[in-house]
Amino acid sequence: MRRLLLAVPLAAVLCASPLPAAAQPWPVAPASDGAEQISQLFWFTLVLATIVFVLVEGLLIYSSFRFRRRTPLPTIEPPQIHGNTRLEVMWATVPALILIGLFGITVSRLGDLSQIPTDPNTLHISVTGHQFFWEFGYGTTGVKTTNDLRIPVGQSVVFDVTSVDVIHAFWVPDLFGQIDANPGRLNRITYKARQPGEYRGVCAELCGAGHNGMLFRVTTLTAADFQTWIEQQQSGAPPAPAAGGAANPADGAARIAQKGCGTCHTIPAIPGANGTIGPNLAGVASRTRIAGGALPNNGPDDLKRWIMDPPALKPGTIMLNLGLTDDEATKIVAYLETLK
Ligand code: CUA
Repeated sequence: MRRLLLAVPLAAVLCASPLPAAAQPWPVAPASDGAEQISQLFWFTLVLATIVFVLVEGLLIYSSFRFRRRTPLPTIEPPQIHGNTRLEVMWATVPALILIGLFGITVSRLGDLSQIPTDPNTLHISVTGHQFFWEFGYGTTGVKTTNDLRIPVGQSVVFDVTSVDVIHAFWVPDLFGQIDANPGRLNRITYKARQPGEYRGVCAELCGAGHNGMLFRVTTLTAADFQTWIEQQQSGAPPAPAAGGAANPADGAARIAQKGCGTCHTIPAIPGANGTIGPNLAGVASRTRIAGGALPNNGPDDLKRWIMDPPALKPGTIMLNLGLTDDEATKIVAYLETLK
């Protein structure tokens, strides 16, 4: 309940942030059945709280005027009042009943929302929080993405949420309530999207200096589109030959192997590139942001600037300056741009 109430100022802050793409996250515009339940509870609490607020403040203002000091002062002392048992019982009982009621409704909704489907065919997506990015794994397909979550509509999806370092919180306000990502523990949340669309997700737990960069994009696809996307990711198609003059992606692949990028990153179609310290680079070219948001856009030029000198663009980053030459960086970017 406290989180639900906190959601309002938080959403206001998020709406003011200068991110492009996708609808702004807003917990009262539900796009899934679970979000609908949370939204109803939010409105119910808001209306109730408004009634109490108006009543209490109204009485306060009324009393201030009605019983204010008047001149000339009365010659006789007004009656002195010491407590009113009936009123006191009332103002202790009514709020208690309201709180008990809200508690009951919240607990029953929580029970509905945390029903994890046991059907073995249910799609499980692993969600792993890292300082400072999210990694998603799609069931037994072997497909992984970073900061880019794709889900089919119309079917229940279970998220298996954990963290490799500190506590993060996984939250897509339009789709489901937030859940903590704790190291050494698996938390589960389920939901079913209603229609294809694009949404924004956030990390909702202060987790360090890069917390504000832990934003991710959620794309809900029709079941057929989702399947096509999975197959496309699995095929790990070799990079297309470069058009005349442009750098050849195959040269980039060779540079990546030679420079040891795979020690920290998992990179599709690069043998031995299975590091887990940095983000998985599958689909890096189609992300809306890179470098944890240190760069405003994600285009070949941005990517090149980033890999040539990460600490200059994002002080404190663990990504190293490998001393790439302009030519090496161009080739590497040519390869990375094939990872859509
Ligand atoms: Cu991760 Cu905040």
